[in-house]
Amino acid sequence: MEATKFLLSENDIPKQWYNISADMPNPMQPVLHPGTGQPVGPDDLAPLFPMAIIMQEVSQDRWIDIPEPVRDIYRLWRPTPLHRARRLEEALGTPAKIYYKYEGGSPAGSHKPNTSVAQAYYNSAEGVKRIATETGAGQWGSALSMACSFFGLQCKVYMVKVSYNQKPYRKSMIRAWGAEVVPSPSEDTQAGRSILEGDPNSPGSLGIAISEAMEDAATNDDTKYSLGSVLNHVLLHQTVVGQEAKKQMEMAGDYPDVVIGCVGGGSNFAGLSFPFAMDKIAGKDVTLLAVEPAACPTLTKGQFLYDFGDTAQLAPLVPMYTLGHDFIPPEIHAGGLRYHGMSPLICQLYKDGIMDARSYHQVEVFKSAVDFARCEGIIPAPESAHAVKAAMDEALKAKEEGKEKSILFNLSGHGHFDLAAYEDFMDGNLKDYEYPEKAIQESIKALEGLPVPQ
Ligand SMILES: Cc1ncc(COP(=O)(O)O)c(C=O)c1O
Repeated sequence: MEATKFLLSENDIPKQWYNISADMPNPMQPVLHPGTGQPVGPDDLAPLFPMAIIMQEVSQDRWIDIPEPVRDIYRLWRPTPLHRARRLEEALGTPAKIYYKYEGGSPAGSHKPNTSVAQAYYNSAEGVKRIATETGAGQWGSALSMACSFFGLQCKVYMVKVSYNQKPYRKSMIRAWGAEVVPSPSEDTQAGRSILEGDPNSPGSLGIAISEAMEDAATNDDTKYSLGSVLNHVLLHQTVVGQEAKKQMEMAGDYPDVVIGCVGGGSNFAGLSFPFAMDKIAGKDVTLLAVEPAACPTLTKGQFLYDFGDTAQLAPLVPMYTLGHDFIPPEIHAGGLRYHGMSPLICQLYKDGIMDARSYHQVEVFKSAVDFARCEGIIPAPESAHAVKAAMDEALKAKEEGKEKSILFNLSGHGHFDLAAYEDFMDGNLKDYEYPEKAIQESIKALEGLPVPQ
């Protein structure tokens, strides 16, 4: 009998994170100070992050040790299983082998605790008492509140209003772990109040929520800021996923032809793909495919520019593919993919042809998620369902071409708190949003006069 799951022991939890900055053919261009336009240094970031995290953000070391207290907590759910989707392969009638790394078994239900635990650890080690953050779908907010509860830290979560209303039980999880959660835009910050003045019904966006959380950290001495995606140290922490997957693919006697992940800010895709990108940079033939919503097509339709990471322009200028910092993406159900920008590491690798990207509309994505659930059991998070759709399309392409391809994707989370979206899909009430070209062009126009990356 061929195996369906490839399982590692707790001793196999990686002891180091992999830092792709050490191996990139072209380095990421510097992040610039929003006021001066000069490259930001550790001192500029010190009000927001603990120094250990700042040093990871700028590190060029290939391997960075994972502190034992962090590995100890990882043991609660890591290593995560690698599944072979045999029943899905059979249903598709494909000669392809489909593998998925399942991160939904973490206590918070996604890959996000891989970095929230590390971030809470470094904050607590440097004496920080309180952390402010934003959350889109609520996955990150729950992951950080859990991690803060492990280290005795207070936590305040600014949750994008549309998700706060669509996903009330994510909010309850955040509260159960002891954090405070408010809908964003909120009345609690200057950034929130000024958005509400302009549009009292604003659905919010990750860009707005980031502004609120950063303002909270910058104006409270005992508080630091934490981000669940985009930044180099976040992607670094996620590389435990790809390192484990590589070992598990070895156990399966296989190596992927294509590695797939959905992308919001890029962390789960990076986590799975960077250890394979290391091989690709060294000459291996492997496709690395990022999948995004057609309603928020950052890589596939955005422009490579310097842009602010947030709406209120408090965050540094980042060299990235962007839709413009004041673009508010349509209210699609994959809340975690509604971000105007993208990790600058992924953007540089995409620009250099090491990574590919593709976009899908939400109705076709939910259709694939349901087909997947009916074969494999797991109901994917709407974000992860983008990767499911791409993996299924790749398997069907292999069938057409008669090729025995190996496909690996990251099933970054479960969708148990997204069932209202599934209801909408099953009742035929879900609609697609066209790529809002005009809104994006207007938003990009606002970037005129800012520095331009090379
Ligand atoms: C389950 C899940 N997958 C993916 C994402 C997208 O984030 P990232 O691109 O950082 O992995 C999110 C964000 O909230 C998420 O909750």
